[in-house]
Order: sequence, then structure tokens, then C-alpha cells
Amino acid sequence: MSHPIQTADLDWQHVDGIDVPVSKQFGDVYFSKDNGLLETRHVFLNGNDLSTRLANLNDFEYFCVGETGFGTGLNILALWQLWQQVRPDNHSHLHAISVEKFPLSKTDLIRALNAWPELKPLADQLIAQYPMPIAGCHRLSFPDERFSLDLWLGDAHDVFPVMEKTVTVNAWFLDGFAPSCNPDMWEENVLNNIVRLSDFGSTFASFSVAGVLKRGLKNHGISISRPRGFRHKREMLKAIWNAPEKQSESSNDLDATEKKTELRAAIFKQRQIAIIGAGIAGLSCAWAFAQRGHQVMIYDQSAPLSGGSGNPLALLNPKLCPIEQSADHLMTLAWQHAINHYAKFKAFRPIQVSQLALKNADELLKLAEQYPENILQAEQAMDSSLTTSYPNLNLLQAGAVLPHQLRDQILEHPLIQYKQAEVSEIKPAALVNVFSSSQQLLGEFDHVIVCAARNSQNFFEHFPVLKPIRGQVSWLNNSALPLDANQAYSYGGYCMQLDADQLILGASFYPNRADDEVLLEDHVHNYELIHSVFPEYAKTLPPVETWQGRASVRAQTQDYFPVVGQLQENQQIYTLTGLGSKGFLFAPLCSEVLAAQVLGEACPVSSTLLKKLSARRFEKKMKAKKPYFKPQI
Ligand SMILES: Cc1cc2nc3c(=O)[nH]c(=O)nc-3n(C[C@H](O)[C@H](O)[C@H](O)COP(=O)(O)OP(=O)(O)OC[C@H]3O[C@@H](n4cnc5c(N)ncnc54)[C@H](O)[C@@H]3O)c2cc1C
Ligand SMILES: C[S@@+](CC[C@H](N)C(=O)[O-])C[C@H]1O[C@@H](n2cnc3c(N)ncnc32)[C@H](O)[C@@H]1O
Repeated sequence: MSHPIQTADLDWQHVDGIDVPVSKQFGDVYFSKDNGLLETRHVFLNGNDLSTRLANLNDFEYFCVGETGFGTGLNILALWQLWQQVRPDNHSHLHAISVEKFPLSKTDLIRALNAWPELKPLADQLIAQYPMPIAGCHRLSFPDERFSLDLWLGDAHDVFPVMEKTVTVNAWFLDGFAPSCNPDMWEENVLNNIVRLSDFGSTFASFSVAGVLKRGLKNHGISISRPRGFRHKREMLKAIWNAPEKQSESSNDLDATEKKTELRAAIFKQRQIAIIGAGIAGLSCAWAFAQRGHQVMIYDQSAPLSGGSGNPLALLNPKLCPIEQSADHLMTLAWQHAINHYAKFKAFRPIQVSQLALKNADELLKLAEQYPENILQAEQAMDSSLTTSYPNLNLLQAGAVLPHQLRDQILEHPLIQYKQAEVSEIKPAALVNVFSSSQQLLGEFDHVIVCAARNSQNFFEHFPVLKPIRGQVSWLNNSALPLDANQAYSYGGYCMQLDADQLILGASFYPNRADDEVLLEDHVHNYELIHSVFPEYAKTLPPVETWQGRASVRAQTQDYFPVVGQLQENQQIYTLTGLGSKGFLFAPLCSEVLAAQVLGEACPVSSTLLKKLSARRFEKKMKAKKPYFKPQI
């Protein structure tokens, strides 16, 4: 459970031609009235020696900065600007993690950042991806800049404890209003988690030299110095976590140093990655790794999109949770991530989805009051050419994806290669060997990601049960009475315009069936679904015998969560599958989670959610060989 997010309540002070935001909640300024940008550089960038450290990053090295209190984003933009100035010309990557309890509204953010004309090109990119005020982690990616940001909306007390330590935070900006205005942020529990996410070599900087902070850091064995503060301020805090000193270097220490160097060389390099299966899971993973500069080979036994992912159009249609559950709710988080992710592709169409309340209408419609403005609209009657007796919740920020266009753009990436091959075996060795069904060695890779839908289970000894669910979409000519092109409808089934002349209807749902011929009875099923909610409109549609369709099979886990990650430790074999009925919605976020696990990067979901996605969550049950339900094929 988390609290619904409240945006920052601000006053503005006009100082030397700029608007300085002041928090009414805390009674403190967001940045110094005496040139906040220079102070940020002095305290946070120089305080962590970032010019030198960033300039010296190795090829493929990942550097992570953590911040308490995102505020106006000034620190992060100044960091990004420094990164532009000093970053080496290689594949190193800068990632920032920031936590914010009271995010500025977008309007206030724009006004606050107007103060810094030299940061405008970066501020504009930040503003374009600035998330909705909903609790949880929001990943903003700027791949051309080799820069990314995880903005965790929520209280530092709730957020830090659930951050998974998939990476070490190398440098910290301890910002968060003066301890006298906001003692909460400087409590031991927050600092303990900051230290948990750090390691020897991590550094810390703050404008505050409050006793509570100094004592807290010292208690963890972190060395503190107090150089001059910005302009008239006497001092600031600079700290480094040094490994405990040894009396003399023994041969063991030298071995350890050598091992560390070897380990770094193994980590900071271009990885060769094989992906098995070119559906939305495989394509999304391929994109995630290629965007980071790694070399990807995708194999598919038939052709890309030959499985469940090959429908002419896919709808992003989340069932949103009560707002206080948003921080850990996969569907709600994946929806926000997917909208931001697909918007970068030509294949994306922004569209609204009117979700009809077939039952529990009050429960569904009250979500409109809980979510921030301009996301949900509760409507009692349908405001369109369709008439229905059902109330509905209109999700204003949704979308649809043209899978074939998406596939083309992903496969055009210079680091992604595709080969048609049925993979039959994966053998872990120094590198992982991938074999075809004719026992031919297809290649050797650093990592293999199995995205083969239900066939994924063939590659592992113990695998979560994946139930087959047959489904068929139908499309038909409705040029006489097309629907609003910007509106989809969801009612157990779904409908929207496929193009100017055709309506697409989804989808039949037959558990425990794995057949995939197009059947008239499934067209009838889709007709009955639309007829049950829009009877008048359904009567205007041409006869089902004239409809076209595509049938395929979903792979569904028993708990409706995807299967993400490793099944066996120390084997470089991972999986992303079990996407059920929501593959297009889940795949982009799950691919980021997977990339974090494979590459040792920051993870964009909480440890609570990560456990729910884990490929090993059924381990006990699987080993006991008592599956919840058995697929009947
Ligand atoms: C009718 C229908 C409508 C749907 N509508 C939507 C929607 O609107 N929105 C949405 O989000 N989701 C929708 N879904 C769900 C979504 O399509 C699935 O969740 C998604 O396709 C799963 O993707 P995948 O990549 O895991 O599997 P698939 O797309 O099935 O891809 C698996 C790939 O692995 C390949 N493969 C298998 N074995 C091997 C092997 N041994 N070697 C090499 N390759 C192999 C297959 O050929 C296949 O291409 C719908 C599903 C159906 C059936
Ligand atoms: C001084 S401002 C940060 C300025 C910011 N770093 C910048 O560059 O603009 C402090 C921020 O900490 C946030 N904050 C205060 N208490 C918090 C808490 N308990 N958890 C998370 N954020 C908190 C405030 O809302 C505010 O945005």
C-alpha cells in the first residue's frame, strides 16, 4: 500500500528576474536564491568529484547517481549537462535514481525550469517524459544521450526499503530541504537504506552538515570532510565510503584486486545475446539490449510475429488498481511505461479506451476520482454513435500498437540480427551454446533469453505451468459507419478502427486449447460480445461469413503474472514469457526488469513486484511436481 501522490504546493518568489519556487509544505526554497545552478555544481557535482569520475568511465561501464528529493530536477539536469560535457566517446551509461514525495505539477516544473536557459534543451526532454503523479517507479530513457532516470514517486521511507540492489549507487546527492524544515528525510531508516544501496567507493554530498547526517554516516564507517560551502556558506558535506584499511597488502589482497579487475573486464564489455522467439517478448528484449549497445541475435522457428503477437493491431488496455496500490501494481506501472515507450515508435497510435462496467460499476467508476486529472473520466452514457446501457470509465491516456510496423522498426536496428531457426537446446558452458533442431550449433553467447511463449518450458527442467488459451481476433468492413478513430471500447472483448474502413474485434478466449485455425464460431463469439453491449451498432455490421480473422494461443501462468528472469543461478539463461492476454502492455517494462538483472543495472520495479514476477516463484511447487493446473492440449 502507498499513499496517493499529492503534488507540491508552491509559493513563488521573484528574485533577480527568476521565479524561485518555495515549498508551502516545508517552508523552504527548492534551490538557492543566490544562483541555484552554481550551488548545485559546487555541492553535488564537485562534492562527488563527478567531472573526473564520469570522464574516466570505461566502455560499457554503468555509473549510478542517487538523489533524495527530485524537486525541480535542477540537480539532475545539471548532472546531465556535465555528462554531455565530459562523457567519454564509448558505450558508458549514466543512470540517476531520484525519490520524490511531492512532485511538482508539470506546469510548475516548466515554470521552475524557466530559470535556467542554458539547461532548456535538456529540460524540454525531461518535461516531455515527466510522469503522471502516480506512486511508483517511472523510468525516463534518453538512449541517444546514454542517460536514464528512475523517478520514484513516494515517501523516501517507503521507497528506499523496497529498492532492489541490482546495482551499487556510486554517488549520492543528499538533498531534501534543511533537516530543520524536514527532519523526516534525514532519519536513520532512510540513511541505512542509502548505505545498503551503496558500497565501498560510493560518495555522498550535501549542503547540510547537520549532526544527524554526520553521525549517521560515521556510524557506517563512512569518512566525512567539510569543505567550503557555496559562496557565503561556511561548509558543506563531502563523504566517501572507503574500504577498511589493512596494515599491509598480503598476496590474498593482490589476488582479490586482480579478480576485481578481471570481473570488471567481464562486466564492462559488449555482450553477445541470443533471444529465442520473435514475438513481442523477444522483440522488446532485443530492443532493450540493442539500445544499450549490445549485439543481439533473435531466432524464431517460423517468422517474427508468427505466434500470439501477430494480430494486425494490439490494444494497451490496463485494468487499473485502486490508487493506493499503484506503486506495486504491475498493470498500472506497465501501462505508464508502455505509453512512454511506444510513443517513440511509428507503430504507436494514441487512443482512448472506454472500459464498460459490466459488473461492479461503482468500484470501477470511483477510480476516476482517485487518479490525477486527465487520466480517467467516468461516464454514465456513451457519448458517441454507439448506444449502450452500461456506464463506462474512459481511459484518456492509452494506445494501440501496429505489431508489424513495430517489428520492422526493431529489426532495422543495426545491432539486431534475425535468423529463422528452431532452437532445440541451450547448453551452458563458458559461453552458452545454442543448437538448432538439427543439432547444429547456431552460436555461442554471453546470455540467452528464452521468449518462446509456451515452448519456453522445453528449455528448462522445472518451469512454471503455462496454460494455453486460444484466441481469435476478427476484422470486417464498417466503412458505412466507422467509429471514432481515437476511441477504443473494452467490454470483455474490445473493438476499434483497424483503419479508415475496417473494424477490429477482439477476442475469443478458450482456455486449454492450443489450436490456431480461424473458425467461424470464434467470429460469432466476437459478434456476440459486441452485440451484448452495443446491440444497435452490432446489427449494422456485415454478416460474420464475410469477416477475416487470425487465431493464436496465449501462454498464461496460474497467477496471471509474467515469468521474468533466471531459473537457475549462475547460468546465463533467462526467460520472459507467460504474458497471457496483456503481452503488449507488459513486455516493455518486463524487458527493462530483465535487462537490469542480466546487466546489473538499476531495477525499475520494487522488490515486492520483482518477487511476483520471478521465474523462480513457483520453485517449491515445481520441485514437489504438483502443478496447480495442467495444460490439456
Ligand atoms: C486473439 C488475441 C488477442 C490479443 N490482443 C491483445 C491486445 O490487444 N493487447 C495485448 O497487450 N495483448 C493481446 N494479446 C496477448 C498477446 O498477444 C500475448 O501476450 C503476446 O503475443 C505474447 O507474446 P510472446 O512474445 O510471449 O509470445 P509469441 O508472440 O507467441 O511469440 C513466441 C515466439 O516464439 C517462437 N518460438 C517458439 N518456440 C521456438 C523455438 N523452439 N525456437 C525458435 N522460436 C520459437 C514462436 O514461433 C513465436 O514467434 C492477445 C492475444 C490473443 C491470442
Ligand atoms: C530541496 S528540494 C530538492 C531540490 C531538488 N533536488 C532539485 O534539484 O530541484 C527537496 C525535495 O525533497 C522532497 N521530499 C521531502 N521529504 C520527502 C520524503 N520524505 N520523501 C521523498 N521526498 C521528499 C520535497 O518534496 C522536495 O521536492
